[in-house]
Amino acid sequence: MASPLSDPLLGRTLKKSPKKEATLLLQPSIERALSKDLEELYAFELRCFDPGMAFHYRQFQELLRNPRADVWVMRHESHIIAQAIILRRKFRDGVHARIYSLTVDLAFRGKGLSRQLLLHVFSKLKTRKIRNIYLEVEEDAIIPIALYNSLGFKVHHRLVDYYEIGRHGLKMRKTLGL
Ligand SMILES: CC(C)(COP(=O)(O)OP(=O)(O)OC[C@H]1O[C@@H](n2cnc3c(N)ncnc32)[C@H](O)[C@@H]1OP(=O)(O)O)[C@@H](O)C(=O)NCCC(=O)NCCS
Repeated sequence: MASPLSDPLLGRTLKKSPKKEATLLLQPSIERALSKDLEELYAFELRCFDPGMAFHYRQFQELLRNPRADVWVMRHESHIIAQAIILRRKFRDGVHARIYSLTVDLAFRGKGLSRQLLLHVFSKLKTRKIRNIYLEVEEDAIIPIALYNSLGFKVHHRLVDYYEIGRHGLKMRKTLGL
């Protein structure tokens, strides 16, 4: 039986939210994907998106070879349950990161995993001294926007007709304290 968490400072048992409880039970691993993970990554993409929306096999091949891309995967019982693709690019004021893709397996959503994965990514970016993180999100995508807001992202500017005519996006930015 799982033992309750106790807070030594407060001397009391902490009440865990169902979401935190679920994440603690899962204990997923997070690692950078390698070329050996290509088939599994692509299968995960097809499980999560319609073929028209999914990245192509070749795009994953290129991302895994790209020295300026990090493909992070979260695994549970050795299966991929979430992925985050981060691109790095040099600008005059330093290297910026961009969250190019973030996906959690449908069956594992709402358990705090994307937050856990992104916090891991942020800590890795910090060790590379990368402060500015950007992303694009569709402006009516309530769940990802709530996630990004809660992680400290702010709207940088609006991207009119970014996805297609009439489908606008938001460019969001977070600055990491180093
Ligand atoms: C967006 C996505 C990555 C969130 O992953 P997740 O692991 O389910 O999210 P988490 O459980 O970590 O929740 C993190 C935050 O997201 C928001 N959120 C998650 N589920 C939500 C829901 N059903 N309704 C409203 N907000 C929600 C909340 O702000 C939540 O924080 P809180 O629990 O402290 O309130 C996931 O829904 C997904 O893969 N969606 C499809 C792909 C996608 O849209 N990617 C983003 C492209 S920009």
